[in-house]
Amino acid sequence: MQIRIADLDADFPAIKLVRETVFWLEQRIPKDLEFDDRDAVCLHLLALERDEPIGTARLDIELGGKIGRVAVLAEHRRRGVASALMQRLHEIASERGLRSVWCNAQRSAVPLYEHLGYAVTSAPFDEAGIEHVRMERRL
Ligand SMILES: CC(C)(COP(=O)(O)OP(=O)(O)OC[C@H]1O[C@@H](n2cnc3c(N)ncnc32)[C@H](O)[C@@H]1OP(=O)(O)O)[C@@H](O)C(=O)NCCC(=O)NCCS
Repeated sequence: MQIRIADLDADFPAIKLVRETVFWLEQRIPKDLEFDDRDAVCLHLLALERDEPIGTARLDIELGGKIGRVAVLAEHRRRGVASALMQRLHEIASERGLRSVWCNAQRSAVPLYEHLGYAVTSAPFDEAGIEHVRMERRL
């Protein structure tokens, strides 16, 4: 498995494939909510296996280190792909001078973020019809 910084133009089809498979086909989140105007300003990572995209995540430095769109194809889960993506984003955020990162985590993903040292910092709220909590981690 390889992780690299994505070029949004060249790698958009790969990012789209992973996100649409996970968020739209699997989680039924409307496509128009999946892609937003933050994509153009975020730093994106791609996880690849044998050159095929299997995971992605993005970091919004302008929003104080907001991590989002963390997705791994179902057949590649529980092998540390999301953890590797997140750890790389933590390194990048740290290099860019951020002291902490945060995310709006789906309830079902809270164990992943806790595993990576995040703590819940909000009450539950609804986003795209799914319950979320804000979580933060110091770098
Ligand atoms: C959440 C998601 C990104 C995790 O990806 P992953 O590559 O399987 O995660 P990792 O293998 O790095 O998991 C690391 C640890 O996090 C925890 N974890 C991850 N997924 C978990 C789950 N479904 N239930 C409980 N704990 C989980 C475990 O402690 C795991 O370690 P272990 O496998 O040794 O027990 C993936 O399941 C996914 O794409 N889900 C759908 C989209 C989604 O919910 N994205 C997050 C939006 S906030």
